[in-house]
Amino acid sequence: MHKTLGDFLADLFQNGVEAGAQTVGVVLDQDERSFTMTVTDNGKGMDEDELVRAQDPFYTDGVKHRHRKVGLGLPFVIQTTRMTQGRFQISSRKGQGTAVTAVFNLEHWDTPPVGDLPATLGQLMALGGDHEVMVVRRLRGPKGAGSYEVKRSELLEALGSLEDLGSLTLLREYFRDNETKLTEETQ
Ligand SMILES: Nc1ncnc2c1ncn2[C@@H]1O[C@H](COP(=O)(O)OP(=O)(O)OP(=O)(O)O)[C@@H](O)[C@H]1O
Ligand SMILES: [Mg+2]
Repeated sequence: MHKTLGDFLADLFQNGVEAGAQTVGVVLDQDERSFTMTVTDNGKGMDEDELVRAQDPFYTDGVKHRHRKVGLGLPFVIQTTRMTQGRFQISSRKGQGTAVTAVFNLEHWDTPPVGDLPATLGQLMALGGDHEVMVVRRLRGPKGAGSYEVKRSELLEALGSLEDLGSLTLLREYFRDNETKLTEETQ
């Protein structure tokens, strides 16, 4: 199965939502050489044993039904960053939350493509629940650096609902416009 960096982001994000977080933070920091994603949540967190198990490809908590994908969540992100000279870091506190940082090396042959980031960000925002999401996106290029930020609650207020298919299209367009502007400013 061929994953994109957007798919990895979606996996990390979903873990945060599934952990019962009130707020999930997503920071995407990209330059010519690397793509860094940091996902933080204030969900149920993990103790040391759980944190070790979460990084084991043969473990899942068993509470959850089996999913569509072949991917193995965290272990797959860890394996990909390791194989491509990137970096992976996770820290967690039981009852408080979790922070994951994955740095993907864009100069390595085997690093997956970024994929359709506007579509991925639209999907993240559309995922159901009462949680807040804060996205910070930064891009650096030959012309300089640029960024944008958006919260799920702002989009919900503007669109009324995030879960119907029309909203999903608008969300994707919103992120596409922002990404186009960012690219024009920086590349
Ligand atoms: N942000 C998080 N907060 C709390 N627990 C987490 C978090 N991320 C992962 N875990 C724990 O680690 C386990 C493994 O996560 P991983 O994403 O690898 O697989 P999964 O979520 O169980 O399955 P899949 O990602 O394939 O749907 C989870 O079942 C969960 O118990
Ligand atoms: Mg998961």
